[in-house]
Amino acid sequence: MPTDSPIIPRPVQFLPAPGVFQFTPATVIVADQLNQWNAAFLQKVFAPLTGCPLPQAESDTGSHSVILLKMGGERARLGREAYQLTVAPGRIEIIAPEPAGVFYGLQSLRQLLPFKPGARHVPACAILDWPRFAWRGFMLDEGRHFMGRETVLQLLDQLALQKLNVFHWHLTEDQGWRIEIQRYPRLTEIGSTRKGTSRGFSGEHNGIPHGGFYTQQEIREIVEYAAVRNILVVPEIEFPGHSLAALAAYPELSCTGGPFEVCTHFGILPELYCAGNEQVFAFLEGVLDEILALFPSPYIHIGGDEAPKQRWKACPKCQERLRTEGLRDENDLQVYFTNRIASYLTSRGRRIVGWNQILGSHLETSAIAQWWAFNKKDFLNALEAGHEGILSAYLETYLDHSHALTPLSRAYRYEPVDPTLSPAAASRILGLEAPLWAEFVRSKARLDYQVYPRLPAYAETAWTPREQKNYFDFRARLEPFLERLRALGVHHAPLRAAEPPFFIQWFGMLTIPRPQEKIA
Ligand code: ACM
Ligand code: ZN
Repeated sequence: MPTDSPIIPRPVQFLPAPGVFQFTPATVIVADQLNQWNAAFLQKVFAPLTGCPLPQAESDTGSHSVILLKMGGERARLGREAYQLTVAPGRIEIIAPEPAGVFYGLQSLRQLLPFKPGARHVPACAILDWPRFAWRGFMLDEGRHFMGRETVLQLLDQLALQKLNVFHWHLTEDQGWRIEIQRYPRLTEIGSTRKGTSRGFSGEHNGIPHGGFYTQQEIREIVEYAAVRNILVVPEIEFPGHSLAALAAYPELSCTGGPFEVCTHFGILPELYCAGNEQVFAFLEGVLDEILALFPSPYIHIGGDEAPKQRWKACPKCQERLRTEGLRDENDLQVYFTNRIASYLTSRGRRIVGWNQILGSHLETSAIAQWWAFNKKDFLNALEAGHEGILSAYLETYLDHSHALTPLSRAYRYEPVDPTLSPAAASRILGLEAPLWAEFVRSKARLDYQVYPRLPAYAETAWTPREQKNYFDFRARLEPFLERLRALGVHHAPLRAAEPPFFIQWFGMLTIPRPQEKIA
């Protein structure tokens, strides 16, 4: 399946046409009111690339070189993110039902401009394009390692280029609480710093303190930066497990009362928020009130994975709750816990997303499950029963895995829709998300190496119709794409490392960077 377009993700329809559009000092942008931000973005990105100033003009009459951004097109048929891009000599038009679509048209136009200093021409063509999935996500774990504002802003720029539209921000962990909550200041005073970091899942730490958190002002700035790039920031405030940093700050919220320290090694810990203590719900609701004020996202991620139940089994308050609520066991108690927060959020117009371990027979149907590992059948049944879902398969989409375990080709060939699903259940798959867990990601260089070149492979699966995907065709488009990423300061893994020889891939099975207990 040869391609004529260099674009990643591959557009749905691409028709080459004769001639080129030439950027000149006389080229003007004509944009309607709703596209003012898109016009500013176009100018900011293309003026340095082409050396042309690209001013805005009131109308396109009388100009011989115009880029027109305007609303129109078929929202009902192709969805809110669709766009139509036409490049002809003297005229480029990007037409879309919403500014998001125009923004994606600009991302395609960026990739049509040859990546050479002083390149000023774009080959004439007609593109009609829209995404396969509404949820095209990337997750960053800053609980394990705090990366900071600059790195996050750079990542958001990179997501936009790939037409990814969800930034799932994992902000709380056993090893660190990363967001200022004014009502509970100890969360960051105590919970944002650990004494050191162990090399693995147990053992001595290195004695080098690690910490950091985002102020509410920084969060607002980042959410706004994402929004103008059509990226929804979905915060993750995890419970009942992976919460030791919060429990170190407020030990009275645990079953045993502590004391605890922010964790210095990785893995699954036994400490959970106590499900029998009303103070816990008041606390989480207080935290979420501030989260809702900061994040306009209709979705709030509540984690819910890897919550071993030994503390709840031994806790009189948790056992009392089990009895008074008539629950069968501690798994039902987690569903009870999740449902309470889900209804709190529903009453405020938001919905929860959680890892698939939140599932249970009485879980609120509004809860969205993100499948990563285990009990796939339960996840598929939940889709059949009316839950919506997101796919983040452990072996295929975890960006923290070695390239030997998840080579580029395996990343690319991942198909999120299980063939056994009914059409109705399949339509409840919102999309795909690639998580970067950061236990072993201590630097920006490491982050880039893990994320690239695999992220563009997931971006293509999330956008391009399945029958139009082709790995070899993708590889051909990847070379120029990586050149663009390098120019944005990305230190991606070399292709020979991203697609290692077969015998290394076999040994890759031994490189799963997490212990058995982590995935049990
Ligand atoms: C997970 O990797 N524990 C969601
Ligand atoms: Zn308890």
